Amino acid sequence: MYAVETQNLIKKYGKTYALKGLDFTVNPSEIMVLLGPNGSGKTTLLMTLATVLKPTSGLAKVMGFDVVKYPTKVRQILGDFISRCKGLLETQASGDSAISCCNVRDQEERTQRCD
Ligand SMILES: Nc1ncnc2c1ncn2[C@@H]1O[C@H](COP(=O)(O)OP(=O)(O)O)[C@@H](O)[C@H]1O
Ligand SMILES: [Mg+2]
Repeated sequence: MYAVETQNLIKKYGKTYALKGLDFTVNPSEIMVLLGPNGSGKTTLLMTLATVLKPTSGLAKVMGFDVVKYPTKVRQILGDFISRCKGLLETQASGDSAISCCNVRDQEERTQRCD
């Protein structure tokens, strides 16, 4: 079972394709980073996985649950995950949290952001 899986996922707004046949998998304990220019479909993908938007066609699953067939189960799983992440951040000092949140930035920018 994959943590996240999509197969030929398509989301159209009118005639505009926000997602055009997206296929990917993320294994449990694997970290995936979503990068792309404005308008490339990042928000649409996350909103679809979170069951806020319905795909036009194709398949999207979270922990094995189809987001269209089992939206309540998917929301429960995501809610549990987010509340556990929140707990993790609360156990850190605020400065540590800020560093964790921007640790992919270069050192100079990180220092500025954490100041
Ligand atoms: N509510 C909407 N109505 C119409 N088009 C939209 C809507 N939301 C996003 N789009 C279009 O879908 C494409 C993907 O947008 P989006 O998912 O917001 O990309 P990103 O988050 O990567 O910037 C863009 O072409 C955008 O203009
Ligand atoms: Mg966005």
